[in-house]
Amino acid sequence: MTTALNASAPLTALQVMQDAPVIPVIVLNDVAHAVPMARALVAGGVRMLEVTLRTPQALACIEAIARAVPEAVVGAGTVRCKADAQAAANAGARFAVSPGYTSAVGQACRDVGLALLPGVATGSEIMMAQEDGFTELKFFPAMQAGGPAMLKAWSGPFFDVRFCPTGGVSLQNAADFLALPNVVCVGGSWLVPADALAHSDWARITQLAADTRVLRST
Ligand code: 3PG
Repeated sequence: MTTALNASAPLTALQVMQDAPVIPVIVLNDVAHAVPMARALVAGGVRMLEVTLRTPQALACIEAIARAVPEAVVGAGTVRCKADAQAAANAGARFAVSPGYTSAVGQACRDVGLALLPGVATGSEIMMAQEDGFTELKFFPAMQAGGPAMLKAWSGPFFDVRFCPTGGVSLQNAADFLALPNVVCVGGSWLVPADALAHSDWARITQLAADTRVLRST
């Protein structure tokens, strides 16, 4: 969290990735959790927040965070189609993350001004995303699809692509990914555990976010 991000200027995917070592992947079932959860992460030094479109409350949560927590930059995860991209932008999201890649989702995010981290798990998917001009990608599901060894293998042919590995990443293995030259940040759900939300344990979320500071030097 080193630079100010102008709230009106469009973000680039690289800005989204470079802000902190970890992008939290967040699942919210209760709109009342959104603002205190976001403030708790910001208090721990994490402000780039991916709220997944996996619950009926997700868009309202994005809207609440965008309105009430200007220190945070809220994005939408699980963006799978044009309608998701439009709804996310309307709710105030500033970036999008997708679990896979289609040209339709890439174009939809461009049309509504959302920086996109497209999800890829194979060389062909990387090539499709690159053909459409995307060079900062989410490697998903990272551990299940090959982990750090896969990223090392990709660094040869895809020397001009940078990744945010997500899926099975934890504080314990994040450094293995972040040590790779083609990794800018990682994504993970461990910063916002479901039971911490259920108990409104905001101090725990702040601590989990603060614990990721050790990864900055990686
Ligand atoms: C997801 O989209 O669910 C992310 O990959 C989170 O994965 P994790 O729960 O293993 O961090």
